[in-house]
Amino acid sequence: MIEITPVLDSKNDKPLYIQLANYIKQEILSGRIKPKDKLPSKRRLSNYLSISLNTIQSAYDQLCAEGYLESKPRKGLYVTHFDRDINLNQPTLVKSEPQQKSAETKVKIDFNSGKVDLEHFPYAIWKKLTIQSLYEDQANLFNIGDPQGEQLLREQIKTQLFASRGVRCSSDQLIIGAGTQSLIGLLCLIIGKENIFALENPGYHRTRIVLEDLGAKTVAIPLDEDGITIQELRISGANVVYVTPSHQFPNGMIMPISRRMELLKWAEENKGYIIEDDYDGEYRYKGKPIPSLQGLDVNESVVYLGTFSKSLIPSIRISYMVLPPTLMKRYKEHFTVYKQTVSRLHQDTLYRFLKEGHWESHLNKMRTLYRKKHSTLMLAIKDYFGEQISVIGEKSGLHIVLEIRTNMDEHELISKAINVGVKVYPLSIYYQRESPGSRILLGFGGLSEDEIVTGIRLLKEAWSLI
Ligand SMILES: Cc1ncc(COP(=O)(O)O)c(C=O)c1O
Repeated sequence: MIEITPVLDSKNDKPLYIQLANYIKQEILSGRIKPKDKLPSKRRLSNYLSISLNTIQSAYDQLCAEGYLESKPRKGLYVTHFDRDINLNQPTLVKSEPQQKSAETKVKIDFNSGKVDLEHFPYAIWKKLTIQSLYEDQANLFNIGDPQGEQLLREQIKTQLFASRGVRCSSDQLIIGAGTQSLIGLLCLIIGKENIFALENPGYHRTRIVLEDLGAKTVAIPLDEDGITIQELRISGANVVYVTPSHQFPNGMIMPISRRMELLKWAEENKGYIIEDDYDGEYRYKGKPIPSLQGLDVNESVVYLGTFSKSLIPSIRISYMVLPPTLMKRYKEHFTVYKQTVSRLHQDTLYRFLKEGHWESHLNKMRTLYRKKHSTLMLAIKDYFGEQISVIGEKSGLHIVLEIRTNMDEHELISKAINVGVKVYPLSIYYQRESPGSRILLGFGGLSEDEIVTGIRLLKEAWSLI
């Protein structure tokens, strides 16, 4: 049956049959119902729309009288074939964008920093565990769950966090959420949007946008080679600071322990909060591991944020935050009214994945794999560009920054790369004031080693540096 699903309003001044006739007329004029299409029988449409046969009859009569429909004896009602150009009262429709054959469609190698390796994702295990989450004895999972997230999953995350990042917490301090931005939004409400939030500059624009959209005041704090500058933070008037100490986003430096201690001291002196976003702390290629700020903190001033977007897959949308007891108390008192944003089924599957040790073995496999990709990338950059390029932030994570010795700005570098089928990314969106100069962002997690080498070779061709 052709689709006829009007919204009919019995309180409207127009009788129902006119509303239905007008709807069908618009569908014919817009081409969604085509000439020679057969309309459903009166009885069928009456059952389908739950309105009386008389209303359908009157609407069809009206459309026949206006010439939109014709009745064929013993066959039914059909849309009349007429020249659609003569229907001048056709409504303006929102047209979908014409399919542009833009330069984007030629992209062969995409150095997107949000992508991870999908070839080695354990599909079979994930599928098996997903099916287990759907077993009948799990039927309670179809009901709304705990606003904080599934208790079993929180227990598992807590245990893993302590082992891998030195984060000390109880499962009751954990809140699960569908992505970092959604958690930042909730956190801003818990901390209070009347506070001033200090942000790294350059820094993660998605955090800044959420805070500003919620009406919080933000201040941009410059970085030095160790990360956020404490001197500037002190004079900013802020009492909350958001940082990415394991791998500064986007510049990639790892905050040394001395700067971490200074930051914790700032929080203690100002009765402030530090939001530690440890988005890809699992991947480190050089240097000793440095404990998380949360693990070093003795004043309950750190909120720890983590995600499975880098260590598993970004589309699963499972991230989490660990709140210090004071903020947890506020959450329990005022914010459990916000329902959990992650599907209980995904949470349950992830719980099984963690409990059975698959996450740990996946992570170990990925660490080796990304280490290989990383050294291939570094080698290719050295081979093709030598001294013409400096690499920034290469000690950990799944992206690096390239500083190119050239007069070309970021825009020119990106468009020249696109011309040879390579997509590289701007840094300017992460800066609040100044421009990054001749620098671009390069993610490598989603590319194979061959693609990485080809991509760098093509970049050399595109930028034709002497
Ligand atoms: C700085 C930063 N934080 C967090 C994330 C992860 O975000 P989500 O948990 O929403 O996937 C990313 C991902 O690219 C990031 O760059």
